[in-house]
Amino acid sequence: MKTLNEMHLHFPSVSINESFARAAVAAFAVQLDPTLDELCDLKTAVSEAVTNAIIHGYQDTIGVVYIDCRILPDSTIQVRVRDRGCGIADIQKAMEPLYTTSGSERAGLGFAVMKSFTDKLRVQSRLGVGTTVFMEKTFSPRVRCNG
Ligand SMILES: Nc1ncnc2c1ncn2[C@@H]1O[C@H](COP(=O)(O)OP(=O)(O)OP(=O)(O)O)[C@@H](O)[C@H]1O
Ligand SMILES: [Mg+2]
Repeated sequence: MKTLNEMHLHFPSVSINESFARAAVAAFAVQLDPTLDELCDLKTAVSEAVTNAIIHGYQDTIGVVYIDCRILPDSTIQVRVRDRGCGIADIQKAMEPLYTTSGSERAGLGFAVMKSFTDKLRVQSRLGVGTTVFMEKTFSPRVRCNG
């Protein structure tokens, strides 16, 4: 499908940039006139993916997190969050709710949240190469009153 608009970001994997990334994607998505709930869902999903890249992908090192956003004609936004970190050994296992490699520190619910708050979620990863999370969300058609 034709891309109507796009936006690309990259930033160092420091935790302060998680809120920046979430806000930047939300500001870009606003042109689709989403409801507040839809926007909150998208922000939460982006936040989970970026947090994973920072915490799990790069662990104790600082790398670059890449975000690519595309807007499609049917009120759809596609968001790709990519890191060049350690990668995931078993993606299927990692995506199971409550699975975490961070012991009791984390809940293991990030992927479950991304899945339930978006319409499409795809994860690609290679050990030692990095991880790409692709999410897609279609906002509901809005009835507008033009007076
Ligand atoms: N970008 C990534 N790079 C490497 N490993 C990842 C990445 N994203 C997720 N993982 C692995 O997948 C597991 C599950 O991720 P998920 O986001 O579901 O849970 P979590 O991050 O452990 O906990 P929570 O998101 O609830 O704080 C992580 O514990 C980690 O081992
Ligand atoms: Mg997580």
